[in-house]
Amino acid sequence: MYILAPSLLAADFKILGQQIEETERMGAEYLHIDVMDGTFVPSISFGMPVIQSIRDISGQFFDVHLMITDPIRYIKEFAECGADGITFHLEAAKDPDAVISLIHELGLKAGMSIRPGTPLEAVYPYLDRVEMVLIMSVEPGFGGQTFMPEAYGRISRLRRQIDGNGYRVRIEVDGGIGKKNVQEVIAAGADICVAGSAVFKKRSISENISYFMKAFEEQGNGEVGKK
Ligand code: DX5
Ligand code: ZN
Repeated sequence: MYILAPSLLAADFKILGQQIEETERMGAEYLHIDVMDGTFVPSISFGMPVIQSIRDISGQFFDVHLMITDPIRYIKEFAECGADGITFHLEAAKDPDAVISLIHELGLKAGMSIRPGTPLEAVYPYLDRVEMVLIMSVEPGFGGQTFMPEAYGRISRLRRQIDGNGYRVRIEVDGGIGKKNVQEVIAAGADICVAGSAVFKKRSISENISYFMKAFEEQGNGEVGKK
Protein backbone atom coordinates (compact mmCIF):
# COMPACT_ATOMS: atom_id res chain seq x y z
CA MET A 1 0.00 0.00 0.00
CA TYR A 2 1.18 3.45 -0.83
CA ILE A 3 1.01 5.98 1.95
CA LEU A 4 0.67 9.74 1.88
CA ALA A 5 2.50 11.64 4.61
CA PRO A 6 1.39 15.29 4.65
CA SER A 7 4.20 17.50 5.93
CA LEU A 8 3.08 19.74 8.76
CA LEU A 9 5.61 22.38 7.82
CA ALA A 10 3.30 23.67 5.09
CA ALA A 11 0.18 23.78 7.28
CA ASP A 12 -1.58 26.91 8.49
CA PHE A 13 -0.59 26.94 12.14
CA LYS A 14 -3.49 29.04 13.31
CA ILE A 15 -5.85 26.24 12.34
CA LEU A 16 -3.46 23.36 12.71
CA GLY A 17 -5.82 20.95 14.48
CA GLN A 18 -8.52 21.39 11.88
CA GLN A 19 -6.09 20.83 9.03
CA ILE A 20 -4.62 17.69 10.57
CA GLU A 21 -8.12 16.26 11.04
CA GLU A 22 -8.86 16.92 7.39
CA THR A 23 -5.75 15.04 6.26
CA GLU A 24 -6.69 12.08 8.43
CA ARG A 25 -10.28 12.07 7.24
CA MET A 26 -9.09 12.04 3.65
CA GLY A 27 -7.00 8.95 4.20
CA ALA A 28 -3.48 10.18 4.92
CA GLU A 29 -2.22 7.48 7.25
CA TYR A 30 0.96 9.28 8.23
CA LEU A 31 1.66 12.78 9.44
CA HIS A 32 5.17 13.93 8.54
CA ILE A 33 6.66 16.14 11.23
CA ASP A 34 9.81 18.06 10.27
CA VAL A 35 12.01 19.04 13.18
CA MET A 36 14.82 21.48 12.32
CA ASP A 37 17.45 22.80 14.69
CA GLY A 38 19.08 25.70 12.85
CA THR A 39 22.39 23.77 12.84
CA PHE A 40 22.03 20.65 10.73
CA VAL A 41 19.80 22.75 8.47
CA PRO A 42 19.51 26.55 8.42
CA SER A 43 15.88 26.73 9.59
CA ILE A 44 14.25 26.19 12.93
CA SER A 45 10.78 24.64 12.84
CA PHE A 46 9.06 23.25 15.94
CA GLY A 47 9.60 20.61 18.57
CA MET A 48 8.08 18.50 21.30
CA PRO A 49 5.33 20.82 22.64
CA VAL A 50 3.68 21.04 19.22
CA ILE A 51 3.83 17.29 18.71
CA GLN A 52 2.46 16.65 22.17
CA SER A 53 -0.48 18.97 21.69
CA ILE A 54 -1.57 17.46 18.37
CA ARG A 55 -1.15 13.87 19.60
CA ASP A 56 -4.63 13.94 21.15
CA ILE A 57 -6.46 14.85 17.97
CA SER A 58 -4.85 12.45 15.52
CA GLY A 59 -4.66 8.70 15.19
CA GLN A 60 -2.16 9.01 12.35
CA PHE A 61 1.30 7.51 12.43
CA PHE A 62 3.52 10.35 13.64
CA ASP A 63 6.46 10.22 11.27
CA VAL A 64 9.04 12.48 12.87
CA HIS A 65 11.84 13.60 10.55
CA LEU A 66 14.71 14.86 12.65
CA MET A 67 16.93 17.32 10.83
CA ILE A 68 19.04 17.89 13.89
CA THR A 69 22.69 17.45 14.81
CA ASP A 70 23.56 14.56 17.11
CA PRO A 71 20.00 13.19 17.18
CA ILE A 72 20.62 10.66 19.94
CA ARG A 73 20.29 13.50 22.47
CA TYR A 74 16.57 13.86 21.81
CA ILE A 75 15.23 10.46 20.77
CA LYS A 76 13.69 9.73 24.16
CA GLU A 77 11.91 13.09 24.31
CA PHE A 78 10.41 12.64 20.86
CA ALA A 79 9.25 9.17 21.83
CA GLU A 80 7.60 10.57 24.95
CA CYS A 81 5.75 13.33 23.16
CA GLY A 82 4.06 10.93 20.75
CA ALA A 83 6.28 9.92 17.83
CA ASP A 84 5.50 6.54 16.25
CA GLY A 85 8.53 6.53 14.03
CA ILE A 86 11.72 8.56 14.14
CA THR A 87 13.87 9.19 11.10
CA PHE A 88 17.31 10.69 11.64
CA HIS A 89 20.01 11.79 9.21
CA LEU A 90 22.94 9.49 8.76
CA GLU A 91 25.14 12.57 8.24
CA ALA A 92 24.12 13.99 11.62
CA ALA A 93 24.72 10.92 13.79
CA LYS A 94 28.04 10.02 15.40
CA ASP A 95 26.96 6.42 16.01
CA PRO A 96 24.01 5.51 13.76
CA ASP A 97 23.74 2.01 15.23
CA ALA A 98 23.27 3.45 18.69
CA VAL A 99 20.50 5.77 17.44
CA ILE A 100 18.67 2.87 15.77
CA SER A 101 18.97 0.74 18.91
CA LEU A 102 17.59 3.50 21.10
CA ILE A 103 14.63 4.11 18.79
CA HIS A 104 13.85 0.39 18.87
CA GLU A 105 14.27 0.13 22.65
CA LEU A 106 11.61 2.81 22.97
CA GLY A 107 9.28 0.70 20.83
CA LEU A 108 9.29 2.94 17.75
CA LYS A 109 10.07 2.38 14.09
CA ALA A 110 13.47 3.59 12.96
CA GLY A 111 14.10 5.48 9.76
CA MET A 112 17.35 6.67 8.24
CA SER A 113 17.61 9.59 5.86
CA ILE A 114 20.30 10.91 3.57
CA ARG A 115 20.80 14.25 1.86
CA PRO A 116 20.72 14.31 -1.96
CA GLY A 117 24.52 14.48 -2.10
CA THR A 118 25.23 11.50 0.16
CA PRO A 119 25.99 8.29 -1.75
CA LEU A 120 23.04 5.92 -1.59
CA GLU A 121 25.33 3.04 -0.64
CA ALA A 122 25.89 4.72 2.74
CA VAL A 123 22.53 3.34 3.95
CA TYR A 124 23.13 -0.23 2.74
CA PRO A 125 24.84 -1.44 5.94
CA TYR A 126 21.74 -0.48 7.93
CA LEU A 127 19.05 -2.05 5.75
CA ASP A 128 18.75 -5.08 7.99
CA ARG A 129 18.08 -2.85 11.00
CA VAL A 130 15.83 0.04 9.94
CA GLU A 131 12.15 -0.05 9.01
CA MET A 132 12.39 2.83 6.58
CA VAL A 133 14.83 4.80 4.44
CA LEU A 134 13.95 8.39 3.61
CA ILE A 135 15.36 9.61 0.32
CA MET A 136 15.50 13.40 0.21
CA SER A 137 14.52 14.74 -3.18
CA VAL A 138 15.42 18.30 -2.16
CA GLU A 139 18.16 19.66 0.09
CA PRO A 140 16.66 19.38 3.58
CA GLY A 141 15.75 22.63 5.31
CA PHE A 142 12.78 24.18 3.57
CA GLY A 143 9.38 23.28 2.17
CA GLY A 144 8.26 24.31 -1.30
CA GLN A 145 11.44 23.42 -3.20
CA THR A 146 11.66 21.75 -6.62
CA PHE A 147 12.00 17.96 -6.84
CA MET A 148 15.50 16.90 -7.94
CA PRO A 149 15.12 14.37 -10.79
CA GLU A 150 18.31 12.59 -9.68
CA ALA A 151 16.14 11.12 -6.92
CA TYR A 152 14.40 8.74 -9.35
CA GLY A 153 17.54 6.73 -9.95
CA ARG A 154 18.28 6.60 -6.23
CA ILE A 155 14.76 5.38 -5.42
CA SER A 156 14.87 2.59 -7.99
CA ARG A 157 18.40 1.51 -7.02
CA LEU A 158 17.34 1.35 -3.38
CA ARG A 159 14.20 -0.58 -4.35
CA ARG A 160 16.35 -3.17 -6.12
CA GLN A 161 18.75 -3.39 -3.19
CA ILE A 162 15.88 -3.93 -0.73
CA ASP A 163 13.88 -6.39 -2.81
CA GLY A 164 16.93 -8.22 -4.08
CA ASN A 165 18.06 -8.97 -0.54
CA GLY A 166 14.66 -9.58 0.98
CA TYR A 167 14.83 -6.67 3.44
CA ARG A 168 11.62 -5.40 4.95
CA VAL A 169 12.29 -1.70 4.56
CA ARG A 170 9.95 0.96 3.28
CA ILE A 171 11.10 3.75 1.02
CA GLU A 172 9.88 7.23 1.81
CA VAL A 173 10.57 10.16 -0.50
CA ASP A 174 10.50 13.77 0.69
CA GLY A 175 10.61 17.11 -1.09
CA GLY A 176 8.89 18.66 -4.07
CA ILE A 177 6.32 15.90 -4.60
CA GLY A 178 3.00 16.93 -6.14
CA LYS A 179 0.57 16.31 -8.95
CA LYS A 180 3.24 16.53 -11.62
CA ASN A 181 5.49 13.80 -10.34
CA VAL A 182 3.73 11.60 -7.76
CA GLN A 183 3.11 8.88 -10.32
CA GLU A 184 6.76 8.76 -11.33
CA VAL A 185 7.87 8.73 -7.70
CA ILE A 186 5.81 5.66 -6.86
CA ALA A 187 6.61 4.00 -10.16
CA ALA A 188 10.31 4.38 -9.29
CA GLY A 189 9.70 2.37 -6.12
CA ALA A 190 8.59 4.67 -3.30
CA ASP A 191 6.13 3.37 -0.69
CA ILE A 192 5.53 6.60 1.21
CA CYS A 193 5.25 10.06 -0.34
CA VAL A 194 5.77 13.14 1.80
CA ALA A 195 4.00 16.24 0.53
CA GLY A 196 3.80 19.64 2.17
CA SER A 197 2.90 22.38 -0.29
CA ALA A 198 0.97 20.00 -2.55
CA VAL A 199 -1.33 19.07 0.34
CA PHE A 200 -1.75 22.32 2.26
CA LYS A 201 -1.44 25.05 -0.40
CA LYS A 202 -3.50 26.12 -3.40
CA ARG A 203 -6.76 24.11 -3.49
CA SER A 204 -8.45 22.58 -0.49
CA ILE A 205 -6.69 19.86 1.45
CA SER A 206 -9.43 17.41 0.49
CA GLU A 207 -9.07 18.07 -3.22
CA ASN A 208 -5.31 17.87 -3.01
CA ILE A 209 -5.32 14.59 -1.12
CA SER A 210 -7.90 13.04 -3.46
CA TYR A 211 -5.46 13.56 -6.26
CA PHE A 212 -2.75 11.61 -4.44
CA MET A 213 -5.16 8.81 -3.57
CA LYS A 214 -6.21 8.55 -7.19
CA ALA A 215 -2.60 8.33 -8.31
CA PHE A 216 -1.98 5.57 -5.74
CA GLU A 217 -4.98 3.63 -6.99
CA GLU A 218 -3.91 3.96 -10.59
CA GLN A 219 -0.56 2.50 -9.62
CA GLY A 220 -2.38 -0.52 -8.22
CA ASN A 221 -2.06 0.57 -4.58
CA GLY A 222 1.41 -0.83 -4.49
CA GLU A 223 0.24 -4.42 -4.48
CA VAL A 224 2.00 -5.44 -7.64
CA GLY A 225 5.39 -6.91 -6.89
CA LYS A 226 5.57 -5.41 -3.43
CA LYS A 227 4.89 -6.30 0.15
C1 DX5 B 1 12.28 19.61 3.84
C2 DX5 B 1 11.29 18.78 4.59
C3 DX5 B 1 10.11 18.36 3.81
C4 DX5 B 1 9.23 19.47 3.34
C5 DX5 B 1 8.42 18.98 2.16
O1 DX5 B 1 13.41 19.77 4.59
O2 DX5 B 1 11.92 17.60 5.06
O3 DX5 B 1 9.34 17.40 4.53
O4 DX5 B 1 8.38 19.96 4.32
O5 DX5 B 1 7.69 20.05 1.65
P1 DX5 B 1 7.28 20.16 0.11
O6 DX5 B 1 6.38 19.00 -0.17
O7 DX5 B 1 6.60 21.47 0.04
O8 DX5 B 1 8.55 20.08 -0.69
ZN1 ZN C 1 10.70 15.96 5.92
